[in-house]
Amino acid sequence: MENFSTILTSHDTYLDGVPHEVFQELRAHDPVAWTEEPDGRGFWSITKYDDVLYVSRHTELFSSRFGIRMEDMDDEETEARRTLMEMDSPEHTRLRRIVARPFTPRQVAEYEGAIRDLAREVLANLDGAREFDFVKEIARELPMKMLGRLLGLPDEDLDWLVSRGDALIGNTDPEFTDYVVDQTDTSAYRLLPFRSPVALELFEYAQAALDARRITPTHDVITALLQPTSDGDTLDDVTLKNFFTLMVAAGNDTTRYTMVAGTQVFIERPELFGQLPHFDESQMKLLVDEVLRWSSTTMHFRRTVVEDTELHGQQLKKGDKVVLWYVSANYDESHFEDPYSFLADRSPNDHTAFGLHSAHLCLGAHLARLELRVMFEEMAKAWSSIELAGDTERLRSNFISGTKRLPIRVTWR
Ligand code: HEM
Repeated sequence: MENFSTILTSHDTYLDGVPHEVFQELRAHDPVAWTEEPDGRGFWSITKYDDVLYVSRHTELFSSRFGIRMEDMDDEETEARRTLMEMDSPEHTRLRRIVARPFTPRQVAEYEGAIRDLAREVLANLDGAREFDFVKEIARELPMKMLGRLLGLPDEDLDWLVSRGDALIGNTDPEFTDYVVDQTDTSAYRLLPFRSPVALELFEYAQAALDARRITPTHDVITALLQPTSDGDTLDDVTLKNFFTLMVAAGNDTTRYTMVAGTQVFIERPELFGQLPHFDESQMKLLVDEVLRWSSTTMHFRRTVVEDTELHGQQLKKGDKVVLWYVSANYDESHFEDPYSFLADRSPNDHTAFGLHSAHLCLGAHLARLELRVMFEEMAKAWSSIELAGDTERLRSNFISGTKRLPIRVTWR
């Protein structure tokens, strides 16, 4: 297919939406496709569900250590910017065991009351307004406030904190950062997460939060992460600060844009939105997973080949980059029946929105699912209808698929 490399790698492509027709073509005719990069050495695009699963599970062949974003980093950069995501076992297993404690299903279930209070507060803050930007007033607010509660941070810091997270994840969109990676010279910041000086500000903030809790422990995730495990294992400050930055960057806009995608479905399907108040918890859970598949907010993650291997007749060499297109796997017609239809009761729904059931499966998956369910439940209780009230605008990114502006008009019950 002509020019598919340019289409997939260009951040501008995604301003108009996900190029599903390109992925469909690749799945059918070139499932392990060599993809040229404008400023890089190229990579293999993996687009079929079964192959994404295979690569995710075979961590001995496909490593996360050399970076999980498309762009290349040299050894020094990779080392300085390493977080949980850019680790392989046994290093990854050890850190994940420690940081996973606040994110287990049982622990997360305990946050439901707090999330519901926050969802109601976010709705109440609208003060009965009929028209507003859903992204700004709701989808950005709830994940930010919940992360603030989890980390025990004061409300007045949260806006600043999330704008820093946006600058990191949205480092290809000029609205969110002055340091757009493919448009400005960011070489001075190459040793910082996301190649951005913003990471330094987050490190400083995190250090102050750690120091404060060492003096006066509180009941929050930061204090919990300072505690040794039952076998006495602890984390150093650099690891803790990297993890803090990862949570701010990974936990906010992902949940936000998925919430937006769900709301766009409700706008297109008013009859579905009208049924939500009658959905029980298990129906809501199915709906949320279909929103996650449909949205596929993190479109890809990368691995690097550590041993020559073969896939669909292609020779993958040690050091080659392999991009797992989660967004394509989620629409693979050989895995999902009728993938281009939104089926609120799709079951089973083993989507790849959080990665696949392997070492790096999203740590915040239970929390994100709960936030989405509770927010949708509270919206359905509060409003009898939602419609579009203006032009929408998408994020400029080949990594995160999202609508960053969604003006809506609602009818309050
Ligand atoms: C709808 C919302 C979310 C989506 C779509 C999402 C997506 C993902 C994906 C696809 C991965 C796998 C990375 C890989 O394959 O290498 C991942 C990992 C991760 N996510 Fe999420 N995420 C979401 C919410 C959250 C939240 C709320 C948090 C934390 C508060 C979080 C924290 C993490 C962390 C720490 C990892 C790294 C796990 C590891 O490498 O072991 N995420 N996420």
